[in-house]
Amino acid sequence: MAKSCIVVGNWKMYKTIEEAVNFVKAAIPLVAKSDVQVYLAVPFTALQASVKAAAGSNIVIGAQNMFDAREGAFTGEIAGRMLVDAGARFVILGHSERRQSFHEDDAFINRKVKAAFEEGLQPILCVGENASQRQEGKTEEVLRQQLADSLEGIKGKQASSLLVAYEPIWAIGTGNTATPDMAEAAHIFCRAEITDLLGKVAGSKVPLLYGGSVRPDNGAALLAQPDIDGLLVGGAALEPTSFAALTQFTGDNAEPALKPRRRVPKPKSE
Ligand code: PGA
Repeated sequence: MAKSCIVVGNWKMYKTIEEAVNFVKAAIPLVAKSDVQVYLAVPFTALQASVKAAAGSNIVIGAQNMFDAREGAFTGEIAGRMLVDAGARFVILGHSERRQSFHEDDAFINRKVKAAFEEGLQPILCVGENASQRQEGKTEEVLRQQLADSLEGIKGKQASSLLVAYEPIWAIGTGNTATPDMAEAAHIFCRAEITDLLGKVAGSKVPLLYGGSVRPDNGAALLAQPDIDGLLVGGAALEPTSFAALTQFTGDNAEPALKPRRRVPKPKSE
Protein backbone atom coordinates (compact mmCIF):
# COMPACT_ATOMS: atom_id res chain seq x y z
CA MET A 1 0.00 0.00 0.00
CA ALA A 2 1.27 3.50 -0.81
CA LYS A 3 2.50 5.41 2.18
CA SER A 4 -0.31 7.83 2.66
CA CYS A 5 -0.30 9.22 6.17
CA ILE A 6 2.37 10.40 8.54
CA VAL A 7 3.04 10.00 12.26
CA VAL A 8 5.50 12.44 13.83
CA GLY A 9 6.94 11.87 17.29
CA ASN A 10 7.96 15.06 19.10
CA TRP A 11 10.29 14.28 21.97
CA LYS A 12 10.40 17.87 23.27
CA MET A 13 13.16 18.29 25.89
CA TYR A 14 13.50 14.59 26.64
CA LYS A 15 16.27 12.07 25.92
CA THR A 16 20.03 12.10 26.04
CA ILE A 17 22.02 10.86 23.06
CA GLU A 18 22.16 7.35 24.50
CA GLU A 19 18.44 7.29 25.25
CA ALA A 20 17.67 8.55 21.75
CA VAL A 21 19.80 5.89 20.09
CA ASN A 22 18.29 3.15 22.23
CA PHE A 23 14.79 4.32 21.28
CA VAL A 24 15.59 4.41 17.57
CA LYS A 25 17.18 0.94 17.65
CA ALA A 26 14.17 -0.46 19.51
CA ALA A 27 11.67 1.27 17.22
CA ILE A 28 13.23 0.23 13.88
CA PRO A 29 11.85 -3.33 13.81
CA LEU A 30 8.54 -2.21 15.31
CA VAL A 31 7.81 0.35 12.59
CA ALA A 32 9.56 -1.38 9.67
CA LYS A 33 6.35 -2.65 8.09
CA SER A 34 4.29 0.42 8.81
CA ASP A 35 2.17 1.88 6.03
CA VAL A 36 2.56 5.39 7.39
CA GLN A 37 5.55 7.67 7.14
CA VAL A 38 7.41 7.69 10.43
CA TYR A 39 9.08 10.91 11.61
CA LEU A 40 10.89 11.64 14.87
CA ALA A 41 11.68 15.19 16.05
CA VAL A 42 14.60 14.83 18.43
CA PRO A 43 16.61 17.29 20.56
CA PHE A 44 19.46 19.08 18.75
CA THR A 45 22.12 17.19 20.69
CA ALA A 46 20.71 13.82 19.64
CA LEU A 47 20.24 14.66 15.95
CA GLN A 48 23.40 13.26 14.48
CA ALA A 49 23.39 10.09 16.56
CA SER A 50 19.69 9.48 15.83
CA VAL A 51 20.25 9.96 12.09
CA LYS A 52 23.07 7.44 12.24
CA ALA A 53 21.01 4.97 14.26
CA ALA A 54 18.06 5.33 11.85
CA ALA A 55 20.16 4.91 8.68
CA GLY A 56 18.66 2.34 6.33
CA SER A 57 15.32 2.32 8.18
CA ASN A 58 12.03 4.04 7.39
CA ILE A 59 12.42 6.48 10.30
CA VAL A 60 12.98 10.09 9.24
CA ILE A 61 14.79 12.29 11.76
CA GLY A 62 14.19 16.02 12.19
CA ALA A 63 14.39 18.88 14.67
CA GLN A 64 11.96 20.75 16.88
CA ASN A 65 12.97 24.34 16.17
CA MET A 66 15.49 26.56 14.38
CA PHE A 67 16.42 30.23 14.06
CA ASP A 68 15.63 32.25 10.95
CA ALA A 69 19.12 33.51 10.09
CA ARG A 70 21.67 31.50 8.14
CA GLU A 71 24.45 32.35 10.55
CA GLY A 72 25.52 35.25 12.75
CA ALA A 73 25.94 36.60 16.27
CA PHE A 74 22.95 34.85 17.83
CA THR A 75 24.29 33.18 20.93
CA GLY A 76 22.61 29.90 21.67
CA GLU A 77 20.64 29.67 18.42
CA ILE A 78 20.71 26.94 15.77
CA ALA A 79 20.46 27.67 12.04
CA GLY A 80 18.65 25.56 9.48
CA ARG A 81 21.90 24.74 7.70
CA MET A 82 23.26 23.34 10.96
CA LEU A 83 20.24 21.06 11.18
CA VAL A 84 20.81 19.91 7.63
CA ASP A 85 24.47 19.40 8.45
CA ALA A 86 23.46 17.12 11.33
CA GLY A 87 21.20 15.13 9.00
CA ALA A 88 17.80 16.57 9.89
CA ARG A 89 15.23 16.45 7.11
CA PHE A 90 12.34 18.32 8.67
CA VAL A 91 11.76 20.87 11.42
CA ILE A 92 8.77 21.62 13.65
CA LEU A 93 8.06 25.38 13.67
CA GLY A 94 5.67 27.49 15.72
CA HIS A 95 4.87 24.82 18.30
CA SER A 96 2.62 26.31 20.97
CA GLU A 97 5.29 25.72 23.61
CA ARG A 98 7.61 27.97 21.57
CA ARG A 99 4.85 30.53 21.12
CA GLN A 100 3.93 30.55 24.82
CA SER A 101 7.21 30.04 26.68
CA PHE A 102 9.51 31.82 24.22
CA HIS A 103 7.10 34.46 22.92
CA GLU A 104 7.45 33.50 19.28
CA ASP A 105 5.00 35.38 17.09
CA ASP A 106 3.66 34.61 13.63
CA ALA A 107 6.02 37.04 11.88
CA PHE A 108 9.05 35.29 13.40
CA ILE A 109 7.60 31.88 12.61
CA ASN A 110 6.99 33.03 9.02
CA ARG A 111 10.68 33.95 8.69
CA LYS A 112 11.63 30.54 10.03
CA VAL A 113 9.32 28.75 7.58
CA LYS A 114 10.99 30.65 4.72
CA ALA A 115 14.46 29.89 6.09
CA ALA A 116 13.58 26.19 6.39
CA PHE A 117 12.50 26.09 2.75
CA GLU A 118 15.74 27.79 1.75
CA GLU A 119 17.73 25.05 3.43
CA GLY A 120 15.64 22.27 1.92
CA LEU A 121 14.14 21.36 5.29
CA GLN A 122 10.52 20.29 5.37
CA PRO A 123 8.67 22.59 7.81
CA ILE A 124 5.89 21.30 10.05
CA LEU A 125 4.02 24.49 10.93
CA CYS A 126 1.94 24.24 14.12
CA VAL A 127 -1.21 26.26 14.74
CA GLY A 128 -3.93 26.01 17.37
CA GLU A 129 -6.18 27.89 19.76
CA ASN A 130 -6.07 27.96 23.56
CA ALA A 131 -8.92 26.99 25.88
CA SER A 132 -10.33 30.49 26.37
CA GLN A 133 -10.18 31.27 22.66
CA ARG A 134 -12.20 28.12 22.00
CA GLN A 135 -14.69 28.95 24.76
CA GLU A 136 -15.14 32.44 23.34
CA GLY A 137 -15.84 31.00 19.88
CA LYS A 138 -12.62 32.44 18.44
CA THR A 139 -11.05 29.20 17.21
CA GLU A 140 -11.50 29.97 13.51
CA GLU A 141 -10.36 33.57 13.90
CA VAL A 142 -7.17 32.40 15.64
CA LEU A 143 -6.43 29.69 13.08
CA ARG A 144 -7.09 32.08 10.19
CA GLN A 145 -4.68 34.66 11.62
CA GLN A 146 -1.95 32.17 12.47
CA LEU A 147 -2.09 30.55 9.04
CA ALA A 148 -2.23 33.82 7.14
CA ASP A 149 0.67 35.39 9.03
CA SER A 150 2.87 32.29 9.27
CA LEU A 151 2.45 31.47 5.58
CA GLU A 152 2.71 35.02 4.30
CA GLY A 153 4.73 35.11 1.06
CA ILE A 154 4.97 31.33 0.72
CA LYS A 155 4.68 30.34 -2.90
CA GLY A 156 2.79 27.37 -4.24
CA LYS A 157 5.96 25.55 -5.28
CA GLN A 158 7.56 25.82 -1.84
CA ALA A 159 4.35 24.60 -0.32
CA SER A 160 4.84 21.24 -1.96
CA SER A 161 6.91 20.07 1.01
CA LEU A 162 4.95 21.93 3.72
CA LEU A 163 3.12 20.12 6.52
CA VAL A 164 0.69 21.85 8.87
CA ALA A 165 -0.25 20.54 12.31
CA TYR A 166 -3.44 21.59 14.07
CA GLU A 167 -2.66 21.37 17.78
CA PRO A 168 -5.28 22.84 20.10
CA ILE A 169 -3.30 24.10 23.09
CA TRP A 170 -5.88 22.82 25.56
CA ALA A 171 -5.26 19.29 24.25
CA ILE A 172 -1.48 19.28 24.45
CA GLY A 173 -0.14 17.19 27.31
CA THR A 174 -3.48 17.36 29.12
CA GLY A 175 -5.12 14.07 28.19
CA ASN A 176 -8.05 16.09 26.77
CA THR A 177 -7.84 15.00 23.15
CA ALA A 178 -10.09 16.81 20.71
CA THR A 179 -12.86 14.47 19.62
CA PRO A 180 -12.43 13.19 16.06
CA ASP A 181 -15.36 15.41 15.00
CA MET A 182 -13.85 18.49 16.61
CA ALA A 183 -10.46 17.84 15.05
CA GLU A 184 -12.04 17.11 11.67
CA ALA A 185 -13.98 20.40 11.75
CA ALA A 186 -10.80 22.35 12.51
CA HIS A 187 -8.97 20.53 9.75
CA ILE A 188 -11.67 21.32 7.21
CA PHE A 189 -11.40 24.97 8.21
CA CYS A 190 -7.58 24.93 8.00
CA ARG A 191 -7.74 23.24 4.60
CA ALA A 192 -9.99 25.98 3.26
CA GLU A 193 -7.74 28.72 4.64
CA ILE A 194 -4.56 27.09 3.33
CA THR A 195 -6.17 26.68 -0.08
CA ASP A 196 -7.11 30.36 -0.06
CA LEU A 197 -3.56 31.32 0.84
CA LEU A 198 -1.56 28.97 -1.39
CA GLY A 199 -3.98 28.39 -4.23
CA LYS A 200 -6.20 25.44 -4.91
CA VAL A 201 -3.61 23.06 -6.33
CA ALA A 202 -0.87 23.62 -3.74
CA GLY A 203 -3.26 24.09 -0.83
CA SER A 204 -5.13 20.90 -1.42
CA LYS A 205 -1.90 18.90 -1.19
CA VAL A 206 -0.60 20.15 2.17
CA PRO A 207 -0.95 17.28 4.66
CA LEU A 208 -2.74 18.29 7.87
CA LEU A 209 -1.68 16.58 11.08
CA TYR A 210 -3.56 16.56 14.38
CA GLY A 211 -1.68 16.86 17.67
CA GLY A 212 -2.75 16.99 21.32
CA SER A 213 -2.89 13.97 23.65
CA VAL A 214 -2.82 11.44 20.83
CA ARG A 215 -2.40 7.92 22.18
CA PRO A 216 -2.57 4.42 20.71
CA ASP A 217 -6.18 4.13 21.90
CA ASN A 218 -7.45 7.26 20.16
CA GLY A 219 -5.10 7.59 17.16
CA ALA A 220 -7.03 5.35 14.79
CA ALA A 221 -10.31 7.24 15.25
CA LEU A 222 -8.53 10.53 14.56
CA LEU A 223 -6.73 9.20 11.49
CA ALA A 224 -10.00 7.77 10.22
CA GLN A 225 -11.30 11.31 9.65
CA PRO A 226 -11.09 12.23 5.96
CA ASP A 227 -9.20 15.48 6.54
CA ILE A 228 -6.72 14.21 9.13
CA ASP A 229 -3.63 13.11 7.24
CA GLY A 230 -1.39 12.32 10.18
CA LEU A 231 -0.60 12.75 13.86
CA LEU A 232 1.88 14.82 15.86
CA VAL A 233 2.55 12.97 19.08
CA GLY A 234 4.34 14.12 22.24
CA GLY A 235 3.99 12.02 25.38
CA ALA A 236 3.01 8.81 23.61
CA ALA A 237 6.11 9.06 21.40
CA LEU A 238 8.56 8.79 24.26
CA GLU A 239 8.39 5.03 24.48
CA PRO A 240 9.06 2.83 21.40
CA THR A 241 6.11 0.43 21.74
CA SER A 242 3.51 3.14 22.26
CA PHE A 243 4.97 5.22 19.41
CA ALA A 244 5.12 2.17 17.15
CA ALA A 245 1.50 1.31 17.99
CA LEU A 246 0.49 4.65 16.46
CA THR A 247 2.12 3.65 13.19
CA GLN A 248 0.40 0.27 12.97
CA PHE A 249 -3.22 0.76 12.25
CA THR A 250 -4.08 -2.60 10.78
CA GLY A 251 -6.91 -5.10 11.07
CA ASP A 252 -10.29 -3.59 11.88
CA ASN A 253 -9.18 -0.01 11.57
CA ALA A 254 -7.06 -0.45 8.43
CA GLU A 255 -9.81 0.67 6.11
CA PRO A 256 -10.70 3.99 7.69
CA ALA A 257 -7.18 4.80 8.80
CA LEU A 258 -5.45 4.02 5.58
CA LYS A 259 -8.01 4.93 2.99
CA PRO A 260 -6.55 6.72 -0.01
CA ARG A 261 -5.69 10.28 0.81
CA ARG A 262 -3.30 12.91 -0.30
CA ARG A 263 0.30 11.89 -0.49
CA VAL A 264 2.68 13.16 2.13
CA PRO A 265 5.54 14.91 0.35
CA LYS A 266 8.95 13.38 0.93
CA PRO A 267 11.64 15.50 2.56
CA LYS A 268 14.22 16.64 0.04
CA SER A 269 17.37 14.65 0.72
CA GLU A 270 17.87 11.09 1.87
P1 PGA B 1 1.13 15.53 23.53
O1 PGA B 1 2.01 16.63 22.78
O2 PGA B 1 0.93 14.40 22.58
O3 PGA B 1 1.97 15.12 24.73
O4 PGA B 1 -0.14 16.18 23.93
C1 PGA B 1 1.79 16.92 21.42
C2 PGA B 1 2.69 18.04 20.99
O5 PGA B 1 2.98 18.94 21.78
O6 PGA B 1 3.16 18.07 19.83
